Amino acid sequence: MSEAPRIVVLPGDGIGPEIVGATMRLLEALGEFEFDERLLGGASIDAYGTALTDEVLEACRAADAVLLGAVGGPKWDTTDPDAPRPEQGLLGLRKGMGLYANLRPVRPSPALIGASPLREERIAGTDLLVVRELTGGIYFGDSGREGDVAHDDCEYSAAEIERIARTAFEAAERRAEASNHKPRVTSVDKANVLETSRLWREVVGRVAPEYPGVALEHLLVDNAAMQLVSRPADFDVILTENLFGDILSDESAMLTGSLGMLPSASLGADGEPGLFEPVHGSAPDIAGKGVANPLATFLSAAMMLRHGLDRPEVGGRPGGGGGHRRDDRRGAGGDRRLARAPGLRVYPDRGST
Ligand SMILES: NC(=O)c1ccc[n+]([C@@H]2O[C@H](COP(=O)([O-])OP(=O)(O)OC[C@H]3O[C@@H](n4cnc5c(N)ncnc54)[C@H](O)[C@@H]3O)[C@@H](O)[C@H]2O)c1
Repeated sequence: MSEAPRIVVLPGDGIGPEIVGATMRLLEALGEFEFDERLLGGASIDAYGTALTDEVLEACRAADAVLLGAVGGPKWDTTDPDAPRPEQGLLGLRKGMGLYANLRPVRPSPALIGASPLREERIAGTDLLVVRELTGGIYFGDSGREGDVAHDDCEYSAAEIERIARTAFEAAERRAEASNHKPRVTSVDKANVLETSRLWREVVGRVAPEYPGVALEHLLVDNAAMQLVSRPADFDVILTENLFGDILSDESAMLTGSLGMLPSASLGADGEPGLFEPVHGSAPDIAGKGVANPLATFLSAAMMLRHGLDRPEVGGRPGGGGGHRRDDRRGAGGDRRLARAPGLRVYPDRGST
């Protein structure tokens, strides 16, 4: 990798340019980076008639990492199946870049513990990572409708399960090194009913002995959904497939009390660039008002430094958060760089894609 890593920056729509702009300023203050800014989502539809051009996908594939804001907005909402939609850009990137592993750390900030719908004593000490398989399962299987009957097929191969299992075990080892705890992977499936889950459980069990220092437990997804709110602090790394991961990662988002604190990393094969983005959307209701909270994007940039550019010493440990509020523009310890970022705001929880 060259001295200055090349980062393709995709601000996207709505508040995307604001939060990504603040993050680029933060990165510039931390080191040297070469930014290559491109259009994605609605902005790309307006300019080129498609949410993701081949040129942008190529630039992303050739980059050291990709930093994304968010896409979408009412301007591009349509029920016309033939009209381009901003999310097609996102899905096209995941597929085109082979991003099969989605990592979402959840670590409530002390300042926001009161904002969680759970009691403080339940969430105290929560520090978990959801590792979700992102390019397989029911979201990518055959689907169709015939009259009143519809189907969505779920398929997983042993190879797909093996590679995401390794991502989870390796993440557990890394987290343990950083905070000196006994690493544990909780693999979530529905093995009592689904054949894909039985294969999942078998393959994860086969991979586990390669990581003798990491404890493995299996949980059925219905039980996991319950345990996640009743004893969240007991989880370390949660490994699960695409659909279960979509649901459980949003459930775990509620533990933090603010969607604005949640970063994510989507990773592909070793050596290939990853995609780093906040979990929230483009917030068109507040776009252009200068009140968008950039912290989830800052934390995504920290994940980029750690997982994408192998510069953990610059990015620190994501998911910690400093507990910044809108009325505390000095940021952590009066950090002037953070103070220059647009408005810091705590806002209500919502779902995500
Ligand atoms: N990954 C993505 O790009 C992504 C994810 C989710 C939604 N979306 C798209 O975003 C658009 C809006 O969706 P939505 O309203 O359901 O979800 P949203 O996350 O954009 O907004 C939900 C609520 O949270 C607020 N909010 C979100 N991020 C914020 C921030 N950084 N600072 C302050 N407030 C913030 C918004 O103002 C809104 O009130 C839609 O077009 C949707 O498709 C994109």
